[in-house]
Amino acid sequence: MNPVIRTKNLAKSYGKTPVLRNIDLTVQAGEFTAVMGPSGSGKSTLMNVISTIDRFTGGEVWLEEQSLLQLGKSELRRFRQEKMGFIFQDYNLLDTLTVKENILLPLSLRRCPAEEMEARLEPIVRALNIRDILDRYPSEISGGQKQRTACARAIITKPAVVFADEPTGALDSRSATQLLEELVNLNGTFGTTILMVTHDIYAASYCKRVIFLRDGAVVNELYSGEMSQRDFYDRILETQSIMGGKVR
Ligand SMILES: Nc1ncnc2c1ncn2[C@@H]1O[C@H](COP(=O)(O)OP(=O)(O)OP(=O)(O)O)[C@@H](O)[C@H]1O
Ligand SMILES: [Mg+2]
Repeated sequence: MNPVIRTKNLAKSYGKTPVLRNIDLTVQAGEFTAVMGPSGSGKSTLMNVISTIDRFTGGEVWLEEQSLLQLGKSELRRFRQEKMGFIFQDYNLLDTLTVKENILLPLSLRRCPAEEMEARLEPIVRALNIRDILDRYPSEISGGQKQRTACARAIITKPAVVFADEPTGALDSRSATQLLEELVNLNGTFGTTILMVTHDIYAASYCKRVIFLRDGAVVNELYSGEMSQRDFYDRILETQSIMGGKVR
């Protein structure tokens, strides 16, 4: 099976300051991976350079075997729109559009036929349990509902990978749990590959794999394998304490 994401010697500096160092990372289709590490360790930067939001300064990145270095600016934009979905901590929903319009926006921008939009929407609405809020505006729904809307928008294009930077960061623990369960569900139901930055061990324990960053380098990695979520939580906690310091 071809990996969805592959990086080789990936590096990023701001001026002379290195922020990512020699990162070799492979993410297979269907993986749900967390990226953890202290504040400033380069988690968001890693996510941003892989997802073409920011430029890397060394090494190489392949997405579904396409080298990002070989794409020009407009090709990169198209590639990003077609292959990637994004979920941000602050939702990034448009206030003047309804929930349904927000979700369908990436498809309307591509002039996707209305019938196809409805057909794609249906299973996602079911999976995320958002039927009742489709006609509401973002100001009329809760934070958890906003994040589920953002999730739906991220996967409506059937992206190769969904990038989520601290998606539970602004949610209370109940909404966070619900969102994580829904990400697991999307990963299981649609095989969506998800890369999620989090500082929260509880959130990471929902993933199948956790990568630990420190000072811009990958310093450890765990797979949940056959472990229960509870045991995986303990392993992540233990790994983090062996690494020293608090994550974030
Ligand atoms: N535009 C920028 N210019 C200069 N330095 C930057 C820029 N963006 C990030 N950095 C630096 O790069 C390092 C990594 O930042 P990054 O945002 O990736 O960390 P992070 O692991 O996501 O942290 P947090 O948990 O606080 O979100 C930090 O030292 C940060 O100050
Ligand atoms: Mg960050």
